[in-house]
Amino acid sequence: MSVVVLISGRGSNLQAMLDAGIPVSAVISNRADAPGLALAARRGIATAVVEHRAFASREAFEAALGAEIDRHAPRLVALAGFMRVLTPAFVARYAGRIVNIHPSLLPEFPGLDTHARALAAGATRHGCTVHFVTAQLDHGPIIAQAAVPVLAGDTADSLAARVLVQEHELYPRAIRWFLDGLLELNDGEVRVKGNHAQMVHGNRL
Ligand code: GAR
Repeated sequence: MSVVVLISGRGSNLQAMLDAGIPVSAVISNRADAPGLALAARRGIATAVVEHRAFASREAFEAALGAEIDRHAPRLVALAGFMRVLTPAFVARYAGRIVNIHPSLLPEFPGLDTHARALAAGATRHGCTVHFVTAQLDHGPIIAQAAVPVLAGDTADSLAARVLVQEHELYPRAIRWFLDGLLELNDGEVRVKGNHAQMVHGNRL
């Protein structure tokens, strides 16, 4: 019972999952040049490319993507830097078993350029969120979050790097909770069975 990971780029969260021993059965990218594909191949993991550009519509792309996912009959689909917006129909197909990591403390800063936007807004803390994916972009039930301080002199890059360290801890841990059957989803709220912190404060916040 394994995880299919969807990526579009670097794949550092994928690497963190693999290093943490998460059972990843396949990695699928919508971009053939995603460096994360080579990383997966080096570890002997099946890879596939489903290029969104090759399809005339979002629905046609998602039909191909879903077929590729379902070949592996995963228990969980994990988005790790997968930069395509998914339709409600696609999300419904994997309801309750598709998760994402987002580089902000949701509900703050959904969407793109989260680190620059946090700086521009004068935020004193920032972070990342693992959540179930629902039809509304970056608004699904929150599984876990990690916060870091925003420091004087931070740039979007320095802040992103500080958050990324937390992403690499948080995402494998949340996926492990899912695989261990510890997550309960009720009325849009996630509860973790046992004594597990759903909010983590990193870097001496
Ligand atoms: C990560 O910071 C992830 O949180 C973000 O993209 C980066 C991917 O890095 N995801 C999003 O912005 C989703 N909207 P990685 O490829 O090295 O894991």
